[in-house]
Amino acid sequence: MSITIKSAEEIALMREAGRRLAKVHQDLGHELRPGITTWEINRIGDEMIRDLGGTPNFLNYMGYPASVCVSVNDEVVHGIPSKERYIKEGDIVSLDMGLIYQGYHSDAARTHAIGEVSKEASLLIERTRESFFQGLQFARAGRRLYEISAAIGDYAESFGYGVVYDLVGHGIGTHLHEEPEIPNFRQRRRGARLKAGMTFAIEPMINLGEPDVEWAEDEWTVCTYDGSLSAHYENTIVITKGEPEILTLTEEEKT
Ligand code: MF3
Ligand code: CO
Repeated sequence: MSITIKSAEEIALMREAGRRLAKVHQDLGHELRPGITTWEINRIGDEMIRDLGGTPNFLNYMGYPASVCVSVNDEVVHGIPSKERYIKEGDIVSLDMGLIYQGYHSDAARTHAIGEVSKEASLLIERTRESFFQGLQFARAGRRLYEISAAIGDYAESFGYGVVYDLVGHGIGTHLHEEPEIPNFRQRRRGARLKAGMTFAIEPMINLGEPDVEWAEDEWTVCTYDGSLSAHYENTIVITKGEPEILTLTEEEKT
C-alpha cells in the first residue's frame, strides 16, 4: 500500500464528511458544562452524527465501545464514556470523533476548557492548537511529510511541553486510518513527498509534563504517565498545490 491520491469527486465527498463533523463538534462543544457525564456527551454526539446522515466511525473500531472519545485532564486520548464520570468546573475535556459520509471518513478533535481553568491549562490548549497550524504551513504539494512533524514538535517543545511519541496522525479517506503515519515530532528522515489530493488527519497530542503515556486498565484510555494535563487538536485536511484545505473547521472557527 501507499498514500492514496483522491480525485476531485472523492474530495468533494470528504468535504461533506468534514462539514458534517465540524457541525457536530461545534454543537457538542456547546453541550459541555459542569455536571454532564462523559456518557451523556457521547450519547448526544452519536445522535448528532446520525441526524446529519453520518455514521460514527469510531464505534466498534477495533472494539472501541463509543462514538465519541472523551478524554479528561491527564487522559490524552481514547477515553471511554462513562455514566460515573462527571465533568466539573476547571477540567479540560478533549472530544475526538469522526464520521463516514457516503463512504468517506472525517476525523477531528478539540480540547475544551470547562469554565475557569488554570492559566497553564488554557495555554496548553491554545499552543496545542497552534502547533497544528505550525505543521500545516508545510502541508502542501512538493514539501516532505516530516517537515509537518518537525514544525509541530519543535513548536510544542519550545514551551517545554512533552510531545506524545506513541500516537500519530494518519492518512484518511475510504478508511479511518490510511498511510502514512504522521508523527508529531522531528524525524531523522524527510518522509514522503506530498502531492495534491492526499488527505490527512493531523493530530498533535501535547502534555504539560513529560511525553510518556500509559494505557489504563480498560485497555483504551491513554493517560500521561506523570499525571500532567494533556491536550489534543485534530483536523482532516487536503493537500493542494497551494494552501491546504481544512475540512473540519467549524463555522464559528472560520469567523
Ligand atoms: N481519532 C482517533 C485516531 O485518529 C481514532 C480513535 S480510535 C477509536 O486514531 F477506536 F477510538 F475509534
Ligand atoms: Co485521527
